[in-house]
Amino acid sequence: MEKNIIIAIDGHSSTGKSTLAKQIAKALNYLYIDTGAMYRAVTYYALKNHLISNNHFDKERLIKALDHMQIGFKYNPEKGFAEVYLDGQNIEKEIRQMEVSNFVSEIAAVPEIREKLVAQQRKIATNKGVVMDGRDIGSVVFPNAELKIFMTASPEVRARRRYKELIEKGENVTYKAVVENVKKRDKIDSERSASPLIKTEDAILIDNSNLTPKEQFEQVLALAKQKIKK
Ligand code: DC
Repeated sequence: MEKNIIIAIDGHSSTGKSTLAKQIAKALNYLYIDTGAMYRAVTYYALKNHLISNNHFDKERLIKALDHMQIGFKYNPEKGFAEVYLDGQNIEKEIRQMEVSNFVSEIAAVPEIREKLVAQQRKIATNKGVVMDGRDIGSVVFPNAELKIFMTASPEVRARRRYKELIEKGENVTYKAVVENVKKRDKIDSERSASPLIKTEDAILIDNSNLTPKEQFEQVLALAKQKIKK
């Protein structure tokens, strides 16, 4: 008998988690949820409302604002995945800009923010049949997820991929700035006290430094199908 499962995809930034998660969700006809987009949405809100900058962070006001901030997803049939909305506005493009990337780790380290977003993530997955990517999905959000994947690759490989993506989008960045951002985010994500990025014992490690997206997709899809059949 087949059953609906939860697939948790965690790992370092720019390891292609969302590309893989989207492919798997599409192949299984599952819902795909990008939890990083939720932390990015809060960061975008904080920047837009001048609650965070290089030398200032009004954490208290941001935490209060969470009560009336509407973060949600809406499926875009043209793109084939659900895009993130903040208070009714599609902010998918805005949240990928370097300015948001530069502040998101600081925002994601705040326990009150995590608590709120984790509760929303659990609610979204009530009916299972979900592929969720992030940093704490297998460790905190769904410790009982049927399949847990932990993705990594060297910082240089990841920065090269990310740099190419940003340049293609027309952003004015240097490779050096991107490597620095990748390393800084690794450090904050792994060393923070609230839900640090860790590989749980039951997660399957995939280092994709030398794997093509197709090879990686086939490996994970096979694993998912085994779990679904059980
Ligand atoms: O996956 P991403 O790069 O879009 O994530 C943006 C940031 O959000 C990243 O620096 C870590 C944080 N994050 C998190 O702490 N927990 C998650 N479940 C997802 C993302």
